[in-house]
Amino acid sequence: MTAATQSPAGAVSGMGREPVLSVRGLVKHFPVRSKGLIRRIVGQVHAVCGVDFDLYPGETLGIVGESGCGKSTTGRAVLHLQPASAGEVLFEGRDITKMSKDDLRALRRDMQIVFQDPYASLNPRITVNEIIAEPLRIHGLYANGGKDKVRDLLKQVGLNPEHGNRYPHEFSGGQRQRIGIARAIALEPKVIVLDEPVSALDVSIQAGVINLLEELQERLSLSYVFIAHDLSVVRHTADRIAVMYLGRIIETATADELFERSAHPYTQALISAIPLPDPRKERTRQRIVITGDVPSPVNPPSGCRFRTRCQKFANELTDEQRQLCINDVPELIDRGQGHPAACHYAEELKLV
Ligand SMILES: Nc1ncnc2c1ncn2[C@@H]1O[C@H](COP(=O)(O)OP(=O)(O)O)[C@@H](O)[C@H]1O
Ligand code: SF4
Ligand SMILES: [Mg+2]
Repeated sequence: MTAATQSPAGAVSGMGREPVLSVRGLVKHFPVRSKGLIRRIVGQVHAVCGVDFDLYPGETLGIVGESGCGKSTTGRAVLHLQPASAGEVLFEGRDITKMSKDDLRALRRDMQIVFQDPYASLNPRITVNEIIAEPLRIHGLYANGGKDKVRDLLKQVGLNPEHGNRYPHEFSGGQRQRIGIARAIALEPKVIVLDEPVSALDVSIQAGVINLLEELQERLSLSYVFIAHDLSVVRHTADRIAVMYLGRIIETATADELFERSAHPYTQALISAIPLPDPRKERTRQRIVITGDVPSPVNPPSGCRFRTRCQKFANELTDEQRQLCINDVPELIDRGQGHPAACHYAEELKLV
């Protein structure tokens, strides 16, 4: 058994080192309530259904999947912003799901989040200086040189410290995301969850923000969980990528391995949807089309959750083979592909 088999979304790049963050069996359900006065619980949204991953010091783990597959819920549960329904989140070996309020408050210094929407995530009524100073004040670190620290943080994210007395609406989207990043690094954390940090930004300014994140990672020895709905965004920034579908991780590999030898039909479809820069190759290559929407997480399909949209299931398997997809949940394990994939019939496929 390879190290990757033993530790589903872990190992590979981190062998021999202790993970800074280990997530095991993470589950998050939300109640669905009836309408009317009584509002009884009539079902559950199965947003995250048993997610495992490791994050090693200094690395970037990309978490990728279509909208609604549970990425943000995973990110929030990892930070305990929304408590998990079940599972463990170990930060440097300590389970944060069982921590006291005081310990959790102290943990905020080590783990931070940058949200997708820089318009909604910054308080519009206070100045940028105050936004960045807030975490320092909460942790009693402002009194001693806080003003200079805020100026320095603005410089570190490429903003003019003279503009710190302005309000968020006076900045562009990219600049606001830089303010969010300055706030996130204010307490010198070890781990930052980046929840689609460039998805709301103009393509022309995305690269600048990604470069900034990479430069800060290097300089401040940060570990990132980088959430994206688009594989191409994490292709060059992530060391390893975990692909999510309907609340589960369905494949995980180093970024290069995933693009060279994806094994799961869903990953293969996502990769084949990325346009190729060479127009000749783009015209002639074979595409794997995923049809229909992601099924509702209130009532996910039995067995393999991807089966309702899987081209392999629809076109290549016999009726007998399909029974396995319908009845048995495929485990995230290495079946000889060199990295873990949750498909009963996972195979190597080189896409061109
Ligand atoms: N607070 C909530 N209450 C009920 N359902 C929620 C809540 N937050 C998220 N969900 C549902 O959980 C699923 C996963 O959502 P989310 O984690 O935001 O996905 P992603 O970030 O991948 O787009 C979705 O079906 C979403 O509607
Ligand atoms: S287990 Fe079956 S339905 Fe699921 S991805 Fe593999 S072939 Fe498709
Ligand atoms: Mg999200």
